[in-house]
Amino acid sequence: MCYFTERYGPWVVIAGASQGIGEQFSHQLAAKGLNIMMIARGKEALDKVASDIRQQYPVEVLTASLDLADPQLSAKLNAFVGEREVGLMVYNAIYSHIGEFFADDLDSKKLCLDVNCKGPLTFLQALVPPMQNRKRGGVILMSSMSGFQGSAMVTTYAASKAFNTVLAEGLWEELRHYGVDVLACVAGATRTPNFNRQTPADKAGSAFPMEPAAVVSEALIALEKGQGPTRITGRMNRFVNVLFSRILSRKQAVCFISRATRRLYAN
Ligand SMILES: NC(=O)c1ccc[n+]([C@@H]2O[C@H](COP(=O)([O-])OP(=O)(O)OC[C@H]3O[C@@H](n4cnc5c(N)ncnc54)[C@H](OP(=O)(O)O)[C@@H]3O)[C@@H](O)[C@H]2O)c1
Repeated sequence: MCYFTERYGPWVVIAGASQGIGEQFSHQLAAKGLNIMMIARGKEALDKVASDIRQQYPVEVLTASLDLADPQLSAKLNAFVGEREVGLMVYNAIYSHIGEFFADDLDSKKLCLDVNCKGPLTFLQALVPPMQNRKRGGVILMSSMSGFQGSAMVTTYAASKAFNTVLAEGLWEELRHYGVDVLACVAGATRTPNFNRQTPADKAGSAFPMEPAAVVSEALIALEKGQGPTRITGRMNRFVNVLFSRILSRKQAVCFISRATRRLYAN
């Protein structure tokens, strides 16, 4: 048994596992020997990824077609996990609406909080206490560069990502005393199906998107090496963060990123 499975095995639960970054987590964690419990809404995509993984790696793969905004999420998650020993949880799924704040209705904003904020809390509450008892385990919350400052057109999404980064930071400190590693993986633009759907093809290149595989392999190295509480993936994203946090004022950073977001998404 290798260090990774000893520390984070035998099972990982991945929320938002069927596409993009979540699909990569499923593959790369299976390659490291973990059994995978995959959650997403679309059954067909889940089954396809699960079948690919089963063909490539000698691990068990289970899937559950669940909506993370479901008010019964806690009970459904517990029923899916059952008595299995979960050593790692990855919360990757998101709801994001791009547009001016008041062009979007209140239900959509509440959905963003359900999937992006309440969902991680439900997973943590269900999956982490047994890790504390075993004195080993790991948590990865996917976050975003958007969470470092407010931005026009992604106001609610950016605020929900700030929630995840700060949540991971506090948990990192609490849980390190129990041998449980916590990481907020802070990604910049990443070429996922969601990014491809939302970003006009002729402008996508200007966001310098990373590939999902590169984001995930950086996150897993950071988790294993204890580089939490946050890991910004990609050298360019780390450079941008230094620029924004140390050189620009908060006001300048908000205006700069809002201009860039409008250039990418307005109309
Ligand atoms: N892509 C980027 O440019 C970028 C940049 C910075 C940070 N991030 C972060 O990276 C993470 C992944 O984002 P992404 O863009 O890569 O998304 P994605 O590739 O589109 O994947 C999202 C996954 O979540 C599932 N999902 C979405 N809503 C769900 C729901 N209500 N219930 C259950 N499953 C749900 C999707 O499957 P179903 O639709 O079938 O449910 C899919 O498997 C997010 O946390 C995001 O904040 C992404």
